[in-house]
Amino acid sequence: MARALLTDAFFESFSSSVIGLEEAESLPPECYVDEEFYRFEKETLFFKEWLCVGRESWVKQPGDYFTSRHVNEPLVITRTKDGEIAAMSAVCQHRAMLVAEGRGRVQSLVCPYHHWVYSLTGKLVGAPAMEKTCNFQMADHGLPRLKVETWQGFIFVNFDLDAPPLKPRLTAVDTVLEHYGLGELEGPPPPPANRYNWNWKVMFENNNDGYHANKLHKGPLHDFVPSHLATFPELPADTAGYYRTNGSLHADASFNPTTKALLPIFPNLTMEERQRVLFVNLPPSLSLVLNADAVLYLILQAESADWHTLEMGTLVAPGAMDDVMFERLMKINDDSVAEIVVQDLHVDSLVQQGLKSKFAPRGRYSWQEGAQRQFNLWLVERYQKGWDTLKSSRPN
Ligand code: FES
Ligand SMILES: [Fe+2]
Repeated sequence: MARALLTDAFFESFSSSVIGLEEAESLPPECYVDEEFYRFEKETLFFKEWLCVGRESWVKQPGDYFTSRHVNEPLVITRTKDGEIAAMSAVCQHRAMLVAEGRGRVQSLVCPYHHWVYSLTGKLVGAPAMEKTCNFQMADHGLPRLKVETWQGFIFVNFDLDAPPLKPRLTAVDTVLEHYGLGELEGPPPPPANRYNWNWKVMFENNNDGYHANKLHKGPLHDFVPSHLATFPELPADTAGYYRTNGSLHADASFNPTTKALLPIFPNLTMEERQRVLFVNLPPSLSLVLNADAVLYLILQAESADWHTLEMGTLVAPGAMDDVMFERLMKINDDSVAEIVVQDLHVDSLVQQGLKSKFAPRGRYSWQEGAQRQFNLWLVERYQKGWDTLKSSRPN
């Protein structure tokens, strides 16, 4: 007979994932495969935390918009006539058609189905042939708004209109990012996102994982960033993101056949910063890999216990894209990164299969997996708070 998964005992068992790394173990496998747990995460994490949707540069001019999706909620992000960024549900408040697809520039958002018209801030400003409809006030039927914040050139949204701001909890991460000038970096629009058949945390933990660097990726494209040069700085308990560094065997290391940066180096980096790769994570949706000449960003969009979508793009120094050789050089980088990513994706897909097994472990960690504990700390605090809230709202 099936038993309820969400119990005090289940949540108490998470404490062994946040103790010292030497003694810690991974979270229970159910957290990665169970739909009830995913629904709990949806309420506890995704409807409460700041979620990355894209870059500010994707909506440069008033009227620019792009669409995104988190936990299957279609969203539209606009640059308003006042120059602000607005984020809204893309679900038409007439009969639920989506008012926008892809990207573009418009005066207003016109639903293609029956031509209800929404302003760039989501107000309903036109609704044809509704004059005989009783008690219908346009002001009551705007697109539901989300909270918006920007950080380092990225746009974040929050379904919770009372959510505390993100930026004050990222000061430790800002310090290590300072010399990259992330807010000013430029990049080509990312290629179409891919959907993957594994839990969003499996993907996040893979991005987090330095332990596998010179094992799974053993070979000339990766050996110069060996796992034993990993560090995991302690960050303030309330941090909304964290980072790890991995030293490289030579300065300006880059994942391509020359093993060296091909694009202009970010001009303000110190020699120490050029001698390492920096990995920054803002759960549950943004991972960054920072080399001396390029930043890879991964935007994760959870869909279910088993599926998520991943948008992956690159940022480079201002002006680097003007070089006539830029596309050729990027192609060399992209092809090599793709080779490495294929190895990761293969593992992720098989890890998800393993996590469904009755023999799936709560695994022990190497010292090179410090970032998994950082992720566990972020998760478990929120899981516990979410469970307390859920229990207090249930009838006795
Ligand atoms: S569903 Fe949008 S106007 Fe009817
Ligand atoms: Fe990897």
